[in-house]
This record gives sequence, structure tokens and C-alpha cells, in this order.
Amino acid sequence: MSNDMSFNAVMGRKNEIMKKAVGIDYENYEFSGIGFDYERMMRETGYSLQEVQDVQRASGVGNTPLIELKNLTALARKFAPKGKGARIFVKDESCNPSGSFKDRRASISAHNAKVKGYKGVAAATSGNYGAAVASQAAMKNLKCIIVQECYDSRKVGQPEILEKDRKCECYGAEVIQLTVGPELFYAYLRILEETGYFNASLYTPFGVVGIETLGYEVAIQCREMLGKDPDAVIITHAGGGNVTGTARGLIKAGASDTEVIGASVDLS
Ligand SMILES: Cc1ncc(COP(=O)(O)O)c(C=O)c1O
Repeated sequence: MSNDMSFNAVMGRKNEIMKKAVGIDYENYEFSGIGFDYERMMRETGYSLQEVQDVQRASGVGNTPLIELKNLTALARKFAPKGKGARIFVKDESCNPSGSFKDRRASISAHNAKVKGYKGVAAATSGNYGAAVASQAAMKNLKCIIVQECYDSRKVGQPEILEKDRKCECYGAEVIQLTVGPELFYAYLRILEETGYFNASLYTPFGVVGIETLGYEVAIQCREMLGKDPDAVIITHAGGGNVTGTARGLIKAGASDTEVIGASVDLS
């Protein structure tokens, strides 16, 4: 390992560090300059839907209830043109062990880290994902470091991020709180290199494959409750993993006519 820990040297080693920390060489999937064979990467990641379900069941993740929001359904009918309106359901992901859908993503990363012999997991996150990784790591006796981006350039912390450290620490994780900027990635790379921990990022194939069960369950539950596939599924969206994984799960369930809608916060 090189001893040069300067910003430029560590950033220069980022591909090599990430390759070790995830066990995937993303360059293998690039083609024709800007092409990326996402499907082959997901296939070669090596987790079938069945295996993901088994891993999640073993740690109490998934199989969350689908609940009809009857008042909203009634409201939609009241204001929709005659003969239209929708029955509106919510997938109650707060029933996952650490209280959010992020457990689905964290469960496969933590499982993969354990079976591949990593001693711990690390994640850079400002939200509930930290608690999910910490919770899954605790169940598997893995060490865990959560890096939070919570201070602005004036060192003012965002209270809703700052307070999330308590939940991560309750699960036994070490929390490192940093400013938002390139220094965060630098610090994170150093942690991965120095610890040799698995990079439980939200967006690796392990994170995305963990979400597939969400879409799959929605399709199966709609068939059981309504006798049909959902017409549309609205998914909260930021970086794309949630929408991608849910849509892939719907397709795996055969619900290929379901419209998938990503809903983002408008920051304009
Ligand atoms: C409720 C909720 N929805 C969606 C997202 C974003 O997921 P993704 O970045 O995979 O689009 C987050 C991530 O923090 C979230 O907390």
C-alpha cells in the first residue's frame, strides 16, 4: 500500500481502493467509450431474487404490509372525472428493522461483506441509510463506520442529519461527521483503504438488488388484494437506486405493464 495520503495521491488511487472495497471492477462493464453493461453487472453480482429474499427474511427485512389509504382513495374519487379515480396504497417500509426501506439495500451489502470475509462495512450517508447499515452490521457481527456529510462550509451542522448519529451509535457503529465537499470522498477513501472494510454504498449492485424485493412484493400483494397488477407505482427518487431496484422487481414479478413514476424533491 502506498503511504502517500495527500489528497491528490488518495484520489488517484480511488479506482483501486473501490475495486477492493466492493469486489467489482466497474471497468469490465464499460464498452464503446460511454456504454455500460448494467444488466451483465447485475447478473454477475450473483444474487438471484430468491437468494435476496432468503437473506432478507433471515434478518427480518421485507415482507412489509401494503395498506390502502382509504381516505385518500375516497378523495381521489371525489375529485376525479366520473368513472375515474384510483385506489391508493402505501408500502409501509417503516416495518423494517431499522425503520426504513434502506434495510433492503443494507442487508445484501452486509451479507455479502460477511460471506466474502470483510471485517466490517462502511457507508457515506446523511440519512436513514446509516442506521440501516449499522443495524445489519450489528446482526452479522461486523464492525461499522458511518461517514455523515452534515456540516456546511461555515461548519454549521444540519440538525436532522446530526441527530441521526445517535441511532447509528446505538447499533454500535462509529460515526464520523464531516463537511460536504470533495474532502468527504477523500476521507471516505482513506477509511476504506485503512480499514479494508466493505463499501456498503447505496448504489452498488448489492444495494440495488436488495430493493428488487420491494417491487416484487408490491406486484404480488396487489395480485392477492386486487386480483391485478398495480397500474402505477410512485417511488421516491434521488440518485436512482430506489426507482431502478423497484422497477426491476416489478419486472421480475412479470408486472411489465405497470407504470413506474419517480417522484423527486423540486430543488429549483
Ligand atoms: C424516502 C427516500 N426515498 C428515496 C431516496 C433516494 O433513493 P435513491 O437515491 O436510490 O433514488 C431516499 C434516500 O435517501 C429516501 O430516504
